[in-house]
Amino acid sequence: MDEALLRTVQTMPKAELHIHIEGSLEPELIFALAGRNNVPLAYASVEDLRRAYAFDDLQSFLDIYYAGASVLLTEQDFYDMTRAYLQRAKADNVRHAEIFFDPQTHTARGVAFSVVIDGITRALREARTQHGMSGSLIMCFLRHLSEEDAFSTLEQALPHRDKFIGVGLDSSEYGHPPEKFARVFARCRELGLHLVAHAGEEGPPAYIQTALDVLQVERIDHGVRCLEDPALTRRLAREQVPLTVCPLSNIKLRVFNQLHEHNLLALLEADIAATVNSDDPAYFGGYINDNFAAVFEALPLRREHAYRLARNSFTASFLDPQAKQQYLNEVDAFFEH
Ligand code: ADE
Ligand code: ZN
Repeated sequence: MDEALLRTVQTMPKAELHIHIEGSLEPELIFALAGRNNVPLAYASVEDLRRAYAFDDLQSFLDIYYAGASVLLTEQDFYDMTRAYLQRAKADNVRHAEIFFDPQTHTARGVAFSVVIDGITRALREARTQHGMSGSLIMCFLRHLSEEDAFSTLEQALPHRDKFIGVGLDSSEYGHPPEKFARVFARCRELGLHLVAHAGEEGPPAYIQTALDVLQVERIDHGVRCLEDPALTRRLAREQVPLTVCPLSNIKLRVFNQLHEHNLLALLEADIAATVNSDDPAYFGGYINDNFAAVFEALPLRREHAYRLARNSFTASFLDPQAKQQYLNEVDAFFEH
């Protein structure tokens, strides 16, 4: 690829809107935390663990991802993990991050909700004061668990209402359609929380439809399978529903065979408000700039697409209008020369 374009996508200001904080846990940190907390691991070494990162589909990844997260026990562990991600994101000129966390993965192991959210929040506050980065949290419900479990997680979260801005839906998609969580999302809407959901990653376009119509989400995470349904594609474009697309994730989880077959350019050409994100960077071979570099290398994307993707990332964020405009001005200034 053109060196100038590569530099542009790497240095432009951007927001990251689809990052699971547990998916930023690098093998080295998994081993360090396992040692610190005396948690046994099924892998002999960092290299041995990395070798296991060859996935057939979403479920084969999730099994390893939940095993990796089992080393997280203390507030300091959640702080260390989040700090490492934010430092890495800063190097990629991420100016704002909306970060997913999966409380049920931890509360099911006896880790208190407050331990999880307080550790993550401490690192976010520090990034704001030290690096001028903004960040907020989106709590995800695990869709392979029951709606009742999601309700009880919401109960545990409510004393911390000021520390998160919204809720999402993640984990195994097939067989767990959005409408399974209709009531808990309705309750979250009443509480004034922002709503997002993973849909149309492995699951069919119908799941995108019900995420919009039943859950009334404001963004779709992934959503790449929307192009299989022309009416849905037109609707996403008309309503400018943002999609948080994660190119390297889609290759690792075999949603597309190769990056040159990825539909990011087709989504943009259909006038969909797509963004580029890393999903689970420690597992999928790269952080946000690695995703930008790889997808610009594989597809005939140009400078005007970089500009659109940078703008989309802030437009699609849940920042207040004034902060959003400030970041959009930064993007415009960056692209002026
Ligand atoms: N949890 C972490 N990463 C995920 C993904 N890509 N899809 C669904 N659930 C996830
Ligand atoms: Zn995801």
